Amino acid sequence: MEFADAVRARHSYRGFTSRQVDGKTLKQVFELASWAPSNCNVQPWHVHVLSGDACDRMREKMKAAASAEVAFNPDFPWQGKFSGDYKERQICSALGLWEHQGVTRDNPAKRAWSWMRNFEFFDAPHIAFIFVTDEFPELVRLAGDVGMYAQTLMLAMTDAGIGSCPQTSVSCYPDLVREELGIDSHYKLMMGLSFGYIDEADSANNLRTERDSLEKTTSFHS
Ligand SMILES: Cc1cc2nc3c(=O)[nH]c(=O)nc-3n(C[C@H](O)[C@H](O)[C@H](O)COP(=O)(O)O)c2cc1C
Repeated sequence: MEFADAVRARHSYRGFTSRQVDGKTLKQVFELASWAPSNCNVQPWHVHVLSGDACDRMREKMKAAASAEVAFNPDFPWQGKFSGDYKERQICSALGLWEHQGVTRDNPAKRAWSWMRNFEFFDAPHIAFIFVTDEFPELVRLAGDVGMYAQTLMLAMTDAGIGSCPQTSVSCYPDLVREELGIDSHYKLMMGLSFGYIDEADSANNLRTERDSLEKTTSFHS
């Protein structure tokens, strides 16, 4: 795939088939992602990839917690509250998704279903969890490194014909994830990434988001 095509073909996909990505391809995309840059090349990411039964067990635990409305306990604060232009973009993004999922704003049950899709991993046969350790004092810069890694990973997946959805939502139950993986609380969960082959029949996958113009976001100086 041409680079620009891969960038434009990556979208957040929210509906997957049960077909698993084979082990060789999995290793190829995660190896490619490891070439992402990071501050001083510290490569702070610790990545766990769950497939098959491991993914299903995690999904069932997350669904049970979310259905029982177990309180979120994210390792990194998350409120999802924005203002001004940012709020407008957030609303636009939610309304766009709901439209493609057949959800209306005045239907709380359908809105709850849309939110619950996160904890079902959108039916994906795989989920990756990206952790960092608690020894980094400069959290904001660390998050930048993880972002570099995550986008490189998603582009590598796009190039391999694999769809993905980055998710803050699933990072709100870090204890469940650590328990399932058998890792200690020294590892902090930054985000999840559901991935697999996209379900073409799922209308949620037809969502295409907009971007502001270059004039609004970027100044060139000479
Ligand atoms: C760090 C991060 C966390 C995100 N968390 C979620 C999430 O929990 N659930 C979800 O459906 N989408 C999530 N998204 C996807 C965004 O909504 C999406 O990237 C944005 O609307 C732009 O759409 P696009 O990815 O299709 O270009 C997340 C994206 C990022 C980068």
